[in-house]
Amino acid sequence: MAIFGHDLEISSVVARSVTSPWYTVFENYASIQNKLPSRPDEIPLTNNKKALEFVDHFNDSSHYVADGRFRGQNSTERTIVTELEGETFLIPPRVTFINSSIDRFAEYIDQNDKFDLIVLDPPWWNKYIRRVKAVNTKAGYRMLTNEDIKAIPLQSHLHENTLVVVWCTNAPSHIDAVAKDFFPKWGVELVASWYWIKITTNGQPVCKFNEPNQKQPYERIFVGLPGGSTLVKSFPRERFLYSTPSAIHSHKPPLYDLFTSKFVPQEATCLELFARSLYPGCTSYGMEVLKLQNKRLYELAMEDGDDEDA
Ligand SMILES: C[S@@+](CC[C@H](N)C(=O)[O-])C[C@H]1O[C@@H](n2cnc3c(N)ncnc32)[C@H](O)[C@@H]1O
Repeated sequence: MAIFGHDLEISSVVARSVTSPWYTVFENYASIQNKLPSRPDEIPLTNNKKALEFVDHFNDSSHYVADGRFRGQNSTERTIVTELEGETFLIPPRVTFINSSIDRFAEYIDQNDKFDLIVLDPPWWNKYIRRVKAVNTKAGYRMLTNEDIKAIPLQSHLHENTLVVVWCTNAPSHIDAVAKDFFPKWGVELVASWYWIKITTNGQPVCKFNEPNQKQPYERIFVGLPGGSTLVKSFPRERFLYSTPSAIHSHKPPLYDLFTSKFVPQEATCLELFARSLYPGCTSYGMEVLKLQNKRLYELAMEDGDDEDA
């Protein structure tokens, strides 16, 4: 089952996301397609029916109130297991989370807080999510207009080297909005366009590379930095990340470890907007901020009292 995540420590229990992603970064390659294995016809596609059924069942049977407003924190070094409205959630170490609509951003994020890394995966207005929601109201999510996203006051939360990272669809109107509207408003320059290539477990793209405006096997990641940043010159303009996508729609691979070792300090302060899961050391904000922390999505790798070396 493909569910992105990371190993978690749950108070002397270790939980592993049901499938760990394999996740490689290739640097300095000019073409996405050139880097994929050849002879695709000889390799059968992976059957992900079981994973899709699992997720359907999860969506149907789990309960998450997106309109709920709450916040929480785990300032310890251990994962905490907590109950909320009949569901059990895993809260990793050193996290702050805010479940709220983004229009209340200024109420929850102190105006003096500056972050080293800000990641946004906006609920872009699009037909696909409307269709998902029409078929299963619990599987889709609400969407925002470009104006709503631009209105987030990120400009107050940057220091000279803050990385602003935005997941973007391939829709020209979304791409334009990031480069021409959001980044200038937030006070950053577009310094890099990275690509997440979605591949099967056999290493093939999940669909063929299509004409512009059609479905593609990749999504874009735009990176912005403040104009005077000392990182601008050295930041890699283009990179390709390859991994098997989650069966949960719109679920992205975590980016923190890619940035924290090289471009922001190891103990970086991170803010993730429109989050559905938590990452150690980060502040996460979104209307479904705990949704994918549901214990049902993890399998316990080690029970209390198990010998780690066993
Ligand atoms: C593209 S998804 C994020 C997916 C997430 N990054 C992941 O990897 O699973 C967008 C998220 O934004 C949430 N959202 C929609 N409208 C929102 C709003 N007004 N304020 C905050 N979050 C919102 C949706 O509920 C959804 O969870």
